[in-house]
Amino acid sequence: MANSSGFFASSVPSLRSRIQPPIGIYRSGLRSLEGFSNRVLCSSTIKGAEKPSTGAFPAESRVPRLVSKGCKLVGCGSAAPTLMVSNDDLAKIVHTSDEWISVRTGIRNRRVLSDKDNLTTLAVEAASKALDMAQVDPDDVDLVLMCTSTPEDLFGSAPQIQKALGCKRNPLAYDITAACSGFVLGLVSAACHVRGGGFQNVLVIGADALSRYVDWTDRGTCILFGDAAGAVLVQACDSEEDGLFSFDLHSDGDGQRHLTATMKENEMDNAGGSNGSVLGFPPRRSSYSCIQMNGKEVFRFAVRCVPQSIESALEKAGLPRSSIDWLLLHQANQRIIDAVATRLEIPPERVISNLANYGNTSAASIPLALDEAVRSGKVKAGHTIAAAGFGAGLTWGSAILRWG
Ligand code: ACO
Repeated sequence: MANSSGFFASSVPSLRSRIQPPIGIYRSGLRSLEGFSNRVLCSSTIKGAEKPSTGAFPAESRVPRLVSKGCKLVGCGSAAPTLMVSNDDLAKIVHTSDEWISVRTGIRNRRVLSDKDNLTTLAVEAASKALDMAQVDPDDVDLVLMCTSTPEDLFGSAPQIQKALGCKRNPLAYDITAACSGFVLGLVSAACHVRGGGFQNVLVIGADALSRYVDWTDRGTCILFGDAAGAVLVQACDSEEDGLFSFDLHSDGDGQRHLTATMKENEMDNAGGSNGSVLGFPPRRSSYSCIQMNGKEVFRFAVRCVPQSIESALEKAGLPRSSIDWLLLHQANQRIIDAVATRLEIPPERVISNLANYGNTSAASIPLALDEAVRSGKVKAGHTIAAAGFGAGLTWGSAILRWG
């Protein structure tokens, strides 16, 4: 059945009777059809298809067919750089104080990449831990989604992660760029690939190193960000066990001006037209400018849009607010988290927060906080989580899911 996020949703077991989106035209333009409710367009393996001996291609091809599939989260992991930078450390380089930062944001420390680490290594560590928890061999991974806005290769990092994990069957691997909403979009993409593509084990990694794009002389932004990686393993299951109940996704390019790290042309590299050839050619080399942010506008946007999105996702799932065991928001600012929880009437003891130790780690923040909450025993198998990401783009979105 096409749900109102435009996805083909499989049935949800105990919640099934409550999850009945109305039939009709949805935002995606897809129309759900009677008699089609429990089936999704999926793919299967062509057994016996010719396999290249080099191992340079996936050993299996896919063709579409109709099957019923669900997906669930079965493992998580995270990793952070060793270098810890406290508010007091920052007060030595910009005019600020531990009190100002902690009162306005809730952040006390952040981890920052140093010479010893790189983002791809962190992502691999987080993904390995997720596979260990799920007890899934790297060879059984058939898709790696790297959600990041700060890849170490402009063309994407996911294939490098696939290689470093030792996934010998060369699973598909690609990057998703959506800033702090990246991980939620990665989850949605994983669900689409499982439900509509026949994939079995999808690694969704959120990893960012915004410290590389922070102006460390700008006290308005440098206090906020840290680096980290987090990962989950999304696994195909019977539709009765489906654990990704609903999604609600948005973007608004008009708000982009409030939070940017845009491309800039290198002033010193202007060879264009200087030799009397084609004017403006060759183009200047470019790099990215540091993060520019209108903090107040981003704050207002988050507090307005995130509760609406979660309400909408709950409605699509047919679940009441009271069914949420844990509210897990992108860890941008404790005041944003508190404001959203208050609007949704979710008590503080059901809100996951770890930004005091890590700051805003962009696409990594949700899986990093989830991993800590799972490993500490807070989040248990069967718990329902309302997760929401928001940030640059502007992009925002939420997912209602069950852990385990
Ligand atoms: N230390 C001390 N003073 C500061 C600091 C600092 N680090 N930063 C700003 N100030 C000063 C300002 O200069 C200003 O001084 P003035 O009144 O003399 O002009 C005063 O404090 C108030 O500044 P504001 O910017 O209005 O402070 P605000 O209360 O809005 O807090 C903050 C700033 C913490 C950035 C807040 O706006 C915020 O958290 N916004 C959300 C940001 C966010 O979450 N961004 C990430 C999105 S995720 C992504 O996609 C990357």
